[in-house]
Amino acid sequence: MVRAVDRDPLWYKDAIIYETHVKAFFDANGDGIGDFGGLVEKLDYLEQLGITCLWLLPFFPSPLRDDGYDVADYRGVHPSYGTLEDFQRLVEEAHRRGIAVLIELVVNHTSDQHSWFQRARRAPPGSPLRDYYVWSDTDQRFAGARIIFTDTERSNWTWDEMAGAYYWHRFFSHQPDVNFDNRLVLEEMLGVLRFWASLGVDGFRLDAVPYLVEREGTNCENLPETHAVIRQLRAALDREFPGRMLLAEANQWPWDVRPYFGDGDECHMAFHFPVMPRIFMSLRLEDAEPIVDILRRTPPIPETCQWGLFLRNHDELTLEMVTEEERDYMVLAYARDAGQRLNLGIRRRLAPLVDNGRRRIELLSSLLFSLPGTPILYYGDEIGMGDDVLRPDRDGVRTPMQWSGGPNAGFSSAPGPSLYSQPITDPVYGHAAVNVAAQLRDPSSLLRWMRNLIRLRKQFQVFGRGTLEFVSSSNPKILAYVRRWGEDTVLCLANVSRQMQPFELDLSAFEGATPVEMLGYTAFPRIAGARYFLTLGGYGFAWFELRGARPPGAGIVAPAR
Ligand code: GLC
Ligand code: CA
Repeated sequence: MVRAVDRDPLWYKDAIIYETHVKAFFDANGDGIGDFGGLVEKLDYLEQLGITCLWLLPFFPSPLRDDGYDVADYRGVHPSYGTLEDFQRLVEEAHRRGIAVLIELVVNHTSDQHSWFQRARRAPPGSPLRDYYVWSDTDQRFAGARIIFTDTERSNWTWDEMAGAYYWHRFFSHQPDVNFDNRLVLEEMLGVLRFWASLGVDGFRLDAVPYLVEREGTNCENLPETHAVIRQLRAALDREFPGRMLLAEANQWPWDVRPYFGDGDECHMAFHFPVMPRIFMSLRLEDAEPIVDILRRTPPIPETCQWGLFLRNHDELTLEMVTEEERDYMVLAYARDAGQRLNLGIRRRLAPLVDNGRRRIELLSSLLFSLPGTPILYYGDEIGMGDDVLRPDRDGVRTPMQWSGGPNAGFSSAPGPSLYSQPITDPVYGHAAVNVAAQLRDPSSLLRWMRNLIRLRKQFQVFGRGTLEFVSSSNPKILAYVRRWGEDTVLCLANVSRQMQPFELDLSAFEGATPVEMLGYTAFPRIAGARYFLTLGGYGFAWFELRGARPPGAGIVAPAR
């Protein structure tokens, strides 16, 4: 058995990550809730899709008031999903197929049902057990910290009768933040990390990581003390489990995320939050500038580090990392119906966001798979699943995976009412119209297209590892960039407009090279002179391998001044 982490310590740079919730994928024991057994049964599907890393949303014992991000016990498995042995079997079976397993380390807060909290509220004030959490006599401390769940919470403090004090929480009031100023808390989290790492887990997503430590007079985000905690988690992992990966969930501007990589001694990966809404913005504005602008403002990261790219995930499409003006625009463009909005974001899936436009899904996927970083696919988006904004919170984007047009979308054999959530049934996105079985049979389906694209991406390490240079184009609707790594040079083009576009590129740096289109192996005219003329159809994209391109720096004559 070759484990991903044994092959290459930088495995995450070449990974294709697939995000799913155990409960939503497949129900093997017929009780209406997806489980580890179900995931094991569907690993062949994931292997054929081509993904190399499975990211599981929280599956720990929990009252499930935040879909498991309210952890009640860090070292167990929620009984609805199976047992710890079932989890171990999943890890083994995934590894056997060369698929790494990434799990959640909900490091900032616990459920109020966690024994640490129950113990803390009864412990004497000032005692180490009490100080597992952050307490206060007033609700006025740390006033500089914003409220994140603006639709449900009015304050980051909630009064606890039993303790006779307020406790601090950045998210729901049933999710008290732990206190990293207490050494015991760090020891606990290190213990949790070791526990899962020794079960073979390959990586950890550090949930809500900017908020670990709070200090008066600051906004309590990204503090140096928080980075010190992360360095200790990383040091332990490197020492005891080399090759395992940490992924930061820091919904921040690129320059504030940059420190989460440290000097290569904090997180290996971090999500690129700001590029995501700008991809959707470019598409609606028919202008490549928002994408170019945010990537230009993204600082370089250490050699061993990597961005995590995504189009959609289990949360709302967050609009925290855009200006107010951009936010208004996005809401107008993508969430005219108030039901589609949640907190500062938009709770919709990929396909409905782009009006089920196949070419737009392909275009955005081409960016996901060719911009610098590791792509992360949200389950169901590979078949174009829809959402349901009438369901509470983010439940509308967490519905059962649509395996077939049969009862319960082929997700479960349980009687309909016992499903954790009903499959989408509307005529456009419902399981009768959108499902895996049908798309496997249809050579032109989105699923088959996605498999193909993933296969192509995996043949070229340049996508996961290469540098990024923008190429100047005569047409603002065309996004043009080159990725280079070693011998490989790839030119990526995207037309963010609905109409066919002509454009000229300045490819003088690649004089003499032959562009070969990568999906069809068609050779295009050799590059001669500074201007290269091309056209792309509406929402079209193209990737060209530049054969015979000089490696960067080799023999390029500096332009005369
Ligand atoms: C992260 C998760 C989100 C959760 C929140 C609080 O942002 O992605 O789903 O609600 O943390 O735990
Ligand atoms: Ca089940």
